[in-house]
Amino acid sequence: MDSRPVGVFDSGLGGLTCVKKLMEVLPGEDIIYLGDTGRVPYGGRSRETIIKYARQDIAFLRGFDIKAVVVACGTVSTNGLDEIAGDYPIPVMGVADAAAQAAVDATKSGRIGLIGTKASIRSMAYDEKILARMPRASIFKAACPLFVPLVEEGRISPEDAVLRLVAEDYLTPLRRQNVDTLILGCTHYPLIAGTIARVMGPDVRLIDPGAVTAERLRRELEAADALGGHARGTYRYFVTDSAEDFSKTASLFLNAHIEGAVRQIALEGPSP
Ligand code: DGL
Repeated sequence: MDSRPVGVFDSGLGGLTCVKKLMEVLPGEDIIYLGDTGRVPYGGRSRETIIKYARQDIAFLRGFDIKAVVVACGTVSTNGLDEIAGDYPIPVMGVADAAAQAAVDATKSGRIGLIGTKASIRSMAYDEKILARMPRASIFKAACPLFVPLVEEGRISPEDAVLRLVAEDYLTPLRRQNVDTLILGCTHYPLIAGTIARVMGPDVRLIDPGAVTAERLRRELEAADALGGHARGTYRYFVTDSAEDFSKTASLFLNAHIEGAVRQIALEGPSP
């Protein structure tokens, strides 16, 4: 047993797709969440900047004596995470490995779609992870840079006309390629899975990287005999911009009122 919290971070709301699954599969874990909302999106930035931000995010979370970090951000997971993860004395787990595995397990035709931020698509990290597991796979990709700002604006309803228009534009070429599996390679995207599913059609299996990574963390904590063992986990959220906007959409997505648990911090300022 290891009662220390698990740290989870993303540039914004996206990592909550992982937190939601963690609450379900690991209900006895305390979770500290960091959303770097003051600097979202990461996905249009250079690899060097993404690595710098990731190190700052991890350093903040480590101030809470955590037992593991889940990098619930596709952009960080595909841009230098493999290089820096070994620098820490605790496990630092990205979302791309488990998602690539889940896609390979799910596809029947070997035609896999991948959507993500510009930085994730540019990195080729998913291609490498998929092809190492399934050399016959064909991968069809699209960067969807407008999805993250729309989610951060709270435009997550399947009825949102602007979101629907943007989704049609990004996803139609992938639908035409007859992919049978689509990796939602940015952790923000499962918040708009309803819209994505409508555009892609009912036969396309959507892979949620945060959710499959939560399952993976559960297996690893169990194997290491490091489960938290709390009767009920507690959840604290930190953001680098207004707590109010984050709280609103986060509460909607998590089906819980989290207003009182969100605090605004400065990453380069004094530690918590
Ligand atoms: N949710 C993130 C990801 O998975 C971050 C998106 C962004 O900040 O651009 O890529």
